[in-house]
Amino acid sequence: MRKKIVAGNWKMNMNLQEGVALATELKAALAADAPACDVVICTPFIHLATVAGITEGTVIGLGAENCADKAKGAYTGEVSAEMVKSTGAQYVILGHSERRSYYGETAEILKEKVNLALANGLKVIFCIGEVKEEREAGKQNEVVAAQLAGSLYELTAEQFANIILAYEPVWAIGTGLTATSDQAEDMHAFIRGEIAKQFGAEAAENVSILYGGSCKPSNAKEIFSKPDVDGGLIGGAALKVADFKGIIDAWK
Ligand code: 13P
Repeated sequence: MRKKIVAGNWKMNMNLQEGVALATELKAALAADAPACDVVICTPFIHLATVAGITEGTVIGLGAENCADKAKGAYTGEVSAEMVKSTGAQYVILGHSERRSYYGETAEILKEKVNLALANGLKVIFCIGEVKEEREAGKQNEVVAAQLAGSLYELTAEQFANIILAYEPVWAIGTGLTATSDQAEDMHAFIRGEIAKQFGAEAAENVSILYGGSCKPSNAKEIFSKPDVDGGLIGGAALKVADFKGIIDAWK
């Protein structure tokens, strides 16, 4: 019943022309061979309006990688959830570990961003995950539980229906060190249990929980085979159509 999703996070890669070329190539590849899951690409802000013209009417969903924690006004350089929505995008990634660690995004700031994104009709891909030292200390479950509670637990069950979760162990991001499929499943099952406690069994059953961190065509099928893993949030391997399509095809 819940959706299977493969989402790409382009991060700060590719200029506009390169991004347009990648989206165009992906569109052609998926038109020739339809995916068995939902596919989303999340691009830098400046790509969104142009890429929306490419993905519109296709199976490809479009998202931003961030949005502001304020609705509008004198916040030079920021991009609001309303602006993201107005490009034609349907999703926004929030809470990525790179935003939390490099840009000081706290649970409280992320709560504001989530509220604004949902109020503007965006679906939120909300990222959670522990750093290496936390896993080594056996604290991964409490870290992830606190990240969920700190930003999402004031939502109603109705609002929560527009949240997609992405478990991204920080030690696996861009390192080539993937979590084992059992480590991913253990955490995803834990997360689903926490969601059940907060929002009820139906919400827990319906929420898609993606795995992110060095996911590649060669390991996606094994990771996606686990019952609580509903897809992936893909960084490096989303920048080449052959690799991204290889991961999408893991659902076939
Ligand atoms: P990599 O796939 O490059 O490890 O990045 C994962 C990620 O951070 C996606 O948001």
